[in-house]
Amino acid sequence: MQFLSILTSSFLAIGLTAASTPSSFTPSVEADVGVIFSADGSQLTLTAGTLISQNWTTDAPTLYLEDTTSTDGQYTIIMIDPTINEDGVLTTALHWYQPYLAYSSGVLEISNTSAPSAEYVYPTPLEGPAHDYILLLYSQPEDYSLPVCLESLLPATDAARLGFDLDEFEEVTGLGTPVAANWFQVVNPTPASTTYAITSTLVATYACEATATATASS
Ligand SMILES: *[C@@H]1O[C@H](CO)[C@@H](O)[C@H](O)[C@H]1NC(C)=O
Ligand SMILES: *[C@@H]1O[C@H](CO)[C@@H](O)[C@H](O)[C@H]1NC(C)=O
Repeated sequence: MQFLSILTSSFLAIGLTAASTPSSFTPSVEADVGVIFSADGSQLTLTAGTLISQNWTTDAPTLYLEDTTSTDGQYTIIMIDPTINEDGVLTTALHWYQPYLAYSSGVLEISNTSAPSAEYVYPTPLEGPAHDYILLLYSQPEDYSLPVCLESLLPATDAARLGFDLDEFEEVTGLGTPVAANWFQVVNPTPASTTYAITSTLVATYACEATATATASS
């Protein structure tokens, strides 16, 4: 009887917490990273999956650990929009990449300003359905540094940020799988005049991928 009730409660716990990423998104993450947006002296603590006004999102949010049982080490945050439909081409944008976040007085703060990062670009969704913005927190490996072949992703331009390949990035950097996540939606208030069915997917090819291919085929 004792055993049965333990099983029941752990199933319930999983059911209640599996919401830090959208249901269709891979990897699925079960722990929240705390996200606080600030605008005009007010604050909004994010509830995963909520539609929020764009005016909250102009500045990069403050992040905090919901689980403070282990506060050592460094963390890396990545924010993406995997829901971009440009005339029928589905693609992902990198909105933010910041390594070397360390726990300090309850929040995550940048501990190494010399490490390359991709500055936060706030959501400006195209006309049409709401976009998903997903924040992924990684436990950063020791002696971490961004491979040079990925530095082309960092400038805040469409050319650099569109076509972001999360799987490849996680693999090449060694960041692995996220330890916590959170997400929100922003919608363009102007309805779309035309809707485009998805016909293809745009994924960027990184210089490191090309190097790996060349090595394998030689
Ligand atoms: C954002 O815009 C909405 C609607 O225009 C307004 O109600 C809200 O107060 C604004 N919030 C901030 C933080 O400026
Ligand atoms: C800061 O980041 C740079 C670039 O990734 C790295 O070479 C350096 O070792 C880091 N410094 C510390 C104190 O971790």
